[in-house]
Amino acid sequence: MNLEEVHIPVLLKEVLKYLNLKQGNIIFDGTLGGAGHTVEIIKAIAPTGRVIGVDLHSQTISTAATKLKKYSENVILLNDNFANIKGILKKINIDSIDGLLLDLGLSSFMIDKSERGFSYLKDEKLDMRFGNDINLSAFDVVNDYPQEKLIEIFRKYGEERWSGPIAENIVKYRESGDIRSTKELVEIIKNSIPLKFKYRRKGHPAKRIFQAIRMEVNRELDNLRKAIDDGFEVLKSGGRMAIISYHSLEDRIVKSKFLQYEGKCICPPDFPVCRCGRNERARIITRKAIKPDPEEISRNPRSRSARLRVLEKL
Ligand SMILES: C[S@@+](CC[C@H](N)C(=O)[O-])C[C@H]1O[C@@H](n2cnc3c(N)ncnc32)[C@H](O)[C@@H]1O
Repeated sequence: MNLEEVHIPVLLKEVLKYLNLKQGNIIFDGTLGGAGHTVEIIKAIAPTGRVIGVDLHSQTISTAATKLKKYSENVILLNDNFANIKGILKKINIDSIDGLLLDLGLSSFMIDKSERGFSYLKDEKLDMRFGNDINLSAFDVVNDYPQEKLIEIFRKYGEERWSGPIAENIVKYRESGDIRSTKELVEIIKNSIPLKFKYRRKGHPAKRIFQAIRMEVNRELDNLRKAIDDGFEVLKSGGRMAIISYHSLEDRIVKSKFLQYEGKCICPPDFPVCRCGRNERARIITRKAIKPDPEEISRNPRSRSARLRVLEKL
């Protein structure tokens, strides 16, 4: 099975349009995944343009390299963290970029093939690390975090109503031994949700907790903040940053960072001169986040929660 068969790029048309691509552009795709966006970006910037394709998951990089073989002149692939954008560019002697794309989260390939315990529908080892050099795993979170800290991450990243009972049962279960597999964790979660709510809620009962643990293990929100800040620094004037998020906390970070860079004066209208000291450095291209249309959602249900925001540096 190749990556193309399993991962359908989300909001592809919109990403291509809003990145405002031109021949010769240098584009940083920090979430290469199945290379679905990358391939189409290359077509728009060829023959002289280049995509720097980055992914934390090494198997994803090697599979994408096969798919991108015929575009080898136009792509540089690197197994790294997008938050390290400045270091990556330095390593390959590139000072600035014309565009940056982040399509956050997981690819279908990682859910189906990585064997890292991302899916609550499989029985795999508790891991959930995007990359090998991340030193915290889902096993550590589930087996070592104190109850209060579990509750905090389940509430914050999973918005899970039953965070308290789930954390309590995890801690109880640990008394008789480690929780090693996704199946064990799913059982604990299911047994912590009162019967009458278990089957009434939308989605799988373990969905929110798995999401919360994954976000904690991979420090997803910290990486996003750093990539926006450092990415903005290396973006050329007129260059664009496009970010697709799938979680309300991520979308909130993108929105507030973009407003910060837009830097519109927030002084009361009756102030004769500006006192807030804000500095206009960017233009928000998508005042409202762009969502997939019903046709895309029916073709690719995974796109349902996607939100695209785009910023242009002045
Ligand atoms: C939703 S997929 C991207 C799919 C891709 N746009 C496509 O159309 O095929 C997200 C990818 O980002 C990678 N990823 C997540 N966090 C990362 C990070 N901090 N640095 C680099 N890659 C990351 C994941 O390993 C995954 O392959």
